Parts: sequence; structure tokens; C-alpha cells
Amino acid sequence: MQELAPQAQKERFKVLLKSLFGYVKPHKGKMLQAAASMLLLAAIRGGIVYVMGPVIQGVFVDKRMDILSMVVIGLPFLFVLKMVAEYTNTYTMSWVGQRAVQKIREDLFTHIHRLSIEFYWRRRSSDVMSRVINDLTNVQSTVQFIPLYGIRDVLTVVSCIGVLFYIDWQFALISLVILPVTGLLLGIFGKKMRRASSESNVIVSEISHKFQESLQGITVVKAFNYEDQAIAKFKVSNDAYFGKMMRYLRAATISGPVMELLGGLVLIGIIYMGGKAIFAGTMSTATFFSFSGGFLTAYMPLKNISNLNSKLQQGLAAWERIYQILEEKPAVVVKHETKNIDHLDGKIEFQGVNYKYPSRDTQVLKDLSFTIKPGEVAAFVGPSGSGKTTIIHLLLRFFDPISGRVNIDDHDMLDLDTTDLREHMGLVTQDTILFDDTVYKNITIGRPGATMAEVEEAARAADAHAFITAMPQGYETMLGERGVKLSGGQRQRLAIARAIIKKPKILLLDEATSNLDTASEQSVQAAIERILSGRTVVMVAHRLSTVRNADKIFVLKKGELAETGTHEELLALNGVYKGLYEAQS
Ligand SMILES: Nc1ncnc2c1ncn2[C@@H]1O[C@H](COP(=O)(O)OP(=O)(O)O)[C@@H](O)[C@H]1O
Ligand SMILES: [Mg+2]
Repeated sequence: MQELAPQAQKERFKVLLKSLFGYVKPHKGKMLQAAASMLLLAAIRGGIVYVMGPVIQGVFVDKRMDILSMVVIGLPFLFVLKMVAEYTNTYTMSWVGQRAVQKIREDLFTHIHRLSIEFYWRRRSSDVMSRVINDLTNVQSTVQFIPLYGIRDVLTVVSCIGVLFYIDWQFALISLVILPVTGLLLGIFGKKMRRASSESNVIVSEISHKFQESLQGITVVKAFNYEDQAIAKFKVSNDAYFGKMMRYLRAATISGPVMELLGGLVLIGIIYMGGKAIFAGTMSTATFFSFSGGFLTAYMPLKNISNLNSKLQQGLAAWERIYQILEEKPAVVVKHETKNIDHLDGKIEFQGVNYKYPSRDTQVLKDLSFTIKPGEVAAFVGPSGSGKTTIIHLLLRFFDPISGRVNIDDHDMLDLDTTDLREHMGLVTQDTILFDDTVYKNITIGRPGATMAEVEEAARAADAHAFITAMPQGYETMLGERGVKLSGGQRQRLAIARAIIKKPKILLLDEATSNLDTASEQSVQAAIERILSGRTVVMVAHRLSTVRNADKIFVLKKGELAETGTHEELLALNGVYKGLYEAQS
């Protein structure tokens, strides 16, 4: 925020406030309820100040029993009312704060699912996490406390000062000295706090990233004795966080003690002038006590008001970081009017496709053209880094070509809805993502509600049934981080079951059998061919033995098609493929 020009900064500030306010607005009713109780509380506090003088006069100076009785009977009632009002406004505002944050969290979660893969290239997951957890906590406390400090305490101060003026306006003027100083404090430290606060938020995300990195990579950390280096790197961030946080706190905590000092000085002024007035007989003792009581009552909320800015700045810095994610737009745009593809034959066609990753200078795919007929098994081979996975991702429309066309059944892919498109596709990758759920749920993520018979059929086909039933709870066994740990080959077989239960029209296998031993690979390969006859298969394979039977083999070299043909044709060519083949056998 600090890099922007003042005018743009102001605009940004407005956008941030408005967007945050949007989350509070639906709770107008509750806010009104809170505001009413705040008003009541302010009135009661003012009222207590107002009756204090007459009560002191009546009880201690005039020694009147009727006033004493009124105090004993009336005051408890007032205190109970005050307690109810205080509870109501704090509780209600906490409710609003929690509700707003609940909605923000839900919107964030929903939003990151709508974004394209490109978002995940740019943003680290730990950074997103730290925004969702740390920054949101700050936003929550801002949403909750700003109205409390801003409305309740301002009202209380106004009502108390009003009463003070009513009691003695000249004296009241003196106590007002404190107001401009409060204002000054509010202004001076604001910018400092926002900057320090947003810088510290960045470091918090750095810290959570370091934690995540070590937690995920613990086997490598240990095997390579990387602990000390990791710890040293962590310390740098951790120390930097301390420094930034202290910078924020220096600005944030100064207003409290300054207010304290100022309050004390004004109180001494009041005592001095009040004492002189009492000696001169121009002020009664009761009025004096009433007045100093009123000043003290107004004082606490005033201190809160001076903290208002610190809360607001911290909250806005945090909100900006969350808002940055909410305002991210998907890079892959789905048209309003899309073609209906309830039925697909499974034809795939690349026409002069060029692609470049945003973070790279060189193109990964260069003028790539090929056709795969419905029901064909097509294989892509080539050295690693030649662009095979990129082709698979283009077929899933994780991103769009920078030029050229990808057609599915003669439809330009850009005319299709990504959800419809992916409904027809099955993907198996080299590393399998398992969710914290049962085996059954993990297999059926692409086809929720599949019957047990269908799941078993898919698992048998993927050569996974045997090891699944050998686990204590069979298909109900929990997987994922806290669940049963599976071997690489077992995970891959689950992934294959997950893809084939969808009976996709187009099956994408990106080194799908690379974690299997040769025997399982052959049986899985056979299973895939059996189950998916009549479907288009695009497979990327490292081991050329797995692609021999493919109808077509495309040999990629640095993002370009070097050779195309069947296994025999390519061997006869005596070119790149032959070289790769000989290197492997
Ligand atoms: N998200 C990405 N951002 C930038 N470059 C990438 C990204 N993914 C892949 N690349 C680069 O694109 C090239 C092709 O990658 P890829 O399609 O994964 O190759 P293959 O699957 O054939 O091994 C490589 O040079 C790789 O470094
Ligand atoms: Mg790859």
C-alpha cells in the first residue's frame, strides 16, 4: 500500500474499507441491537455521573435518609441494567465479528477453488495459509472492536462530557484539553503502524513457509543433515519478525501511557482549581466530587479511542492481504455461452499451439500440431523438460495457449466450459494426492455416490483390490496425512482406480505407472487397455516398453515434434526414438 501515490493510496483505502464493510452490512439488525445497547450504556454512565453530585450532597452533607434509601434501592437496578447493556453490546459485536470472518473464510476457500493453476504458480501455499489464519484473526478483532471503541466509547465520552458541561462549563473546558491531544496521537502513529504491521504480516507468512517446508521435506532435511542450515535460515526470519513487531508496538503502545500521563495532569489541574474554588466558597464539595468522578468515567473510554487507530491500521493491513487474494481473477476465463458437450467422441487436435510459462522467457511448446482420433492410444515420449506434462495440462485447460488452438471433437476448447470438459477426462499423475478420507471416498472423488461394486471393479482393474482388502478396515480405511501410509506403487494404483471409475472419454496418464514394478506395470497396463477400449488415451511414459502398443507415438524435443509414428515405424526411422530406445534396452 505504501508504494502507491497519495491519491491512489486514498482510493485503495476506500476500496478496502468498503469491501470490509460489505461483510458487516448484512448484520444491520444485530448492529442496531448493539448500537442501542451502546447508547443505553453511554446514557447510564452519563446518568451515574449526573446523580453523583446530588447523592454526595444529600447523603454526606445533608445527611438525608430518604436519599440514602434511594441509593441503596436504585443503584443496584442501574448497575444490573449497565451490566446487561455491556454484555449485550460486547457479545453482539463479537457475534458480528465472528459472522463476518466466517463469511470471509468461506469466500476465500471458495475463491481459491475458482482460480486457475496460474495462481498457485505465483503464490506459495504457506503464504495463503498465513493470510487465512493470522491476517483473518486481526481482521476479526478489528471488525469487533472498531464499533465498540468507535461508537460505544465515543458515545460514553460525549455523554460524560455533556454532563460535565452541565455541572460546570468552565471546569469542563479544562478537561477538554485532553481531546486534541488524543486526536494528535490518533494521527501521528497511524501510518507508522500500518507500515510496520503489513511488513510483519509478510514475515509471518515467511515463517509459516519455513515451518511447512521443513515439515514436508523432513526426510530430506534429516538425510542431508540440513537441520542446522534450516534452523539458521528460520532464525533470520524469526528475528526480523521480532524487529518489525517491536516497531509496530512502539507506535501502538505509546498512546496508552501518553494518555495516562495527560489524564493525571488534567486531574491534578482539576484538583488544584477545584480546591481553590471550594476554599473560596464558589463550589460545593459535592459538585467537585461529582465533577472529578465524571472526568474519571470519561477517561477510560477515551483511552480506548486513542487505541482505535492502532486497531484500525492493523486490521486494514491484514484485510489488504486477504483482499489481494479475493480480488485475484482466474487466468482461464470461461465464456458466458459455452457449447454443450454431453456427448464426446474423444478426438483431440492441436493446431499450431504455442505456449510459454509466465515466469519463463523461452517457449515450452512451439507451433505444435497433431491429431489423435477417437479411441486411439497416443503416447508422448521425449527427454524430461520437453513439454509432455505441459501438453496434458493444456488438455485439462489448466491454462490457455498463447496462440494456436486446441480442439476437442472439433470444438475450440475455448468455447467449452472447463467443468464440463474435465467431466470427460481422467487424470493419473506421477505423484498421487490422497485426501484425509477413506479409500472409498478417495477413489470416488470424481464420481461421488458410485456403488461399492463399481469401486471394487475399478480397484480390481487397477490391481489395487488385493492390498485394499488386506488393510484392517478395507475400503473404509482412512488415508491421507493422519491415515494409513501407502507405498508409491499403492498410491499410484489408487490413482488409476480413481481415474477409471469415472469411465472418462479421454484418459490422461502422465507417467502413471512409473512407480510400479515391471510386473504390476504390465498388469495395470493390460487392465487400462481392457477397461478403456473405445476411449481416447493420452499417455506420457518414460519407459518406452509401455508405449510399444500405442497407436501413435509422438516424440517431443524441446517443445517440438521431432518424430511421429508407431513403434516399428519410429525404429525404422533410425532417429531420436531409436536413440532413446537403444539407451533404455
Ligand atoms: N509452472 C511452471 N512455470 C515455469 N516453467 C515451467 C512450469 N512447469 C514446467 N515448466 C518448464 O517447462 C518445461 C517443460 O516442462 P514439462 O512439460 O513439465 O516437461 P516434461 O513433462 O516433458 O518433463 C520445463 O523446462 C519446465 O522447467
Ligand atoms: Mg512431466
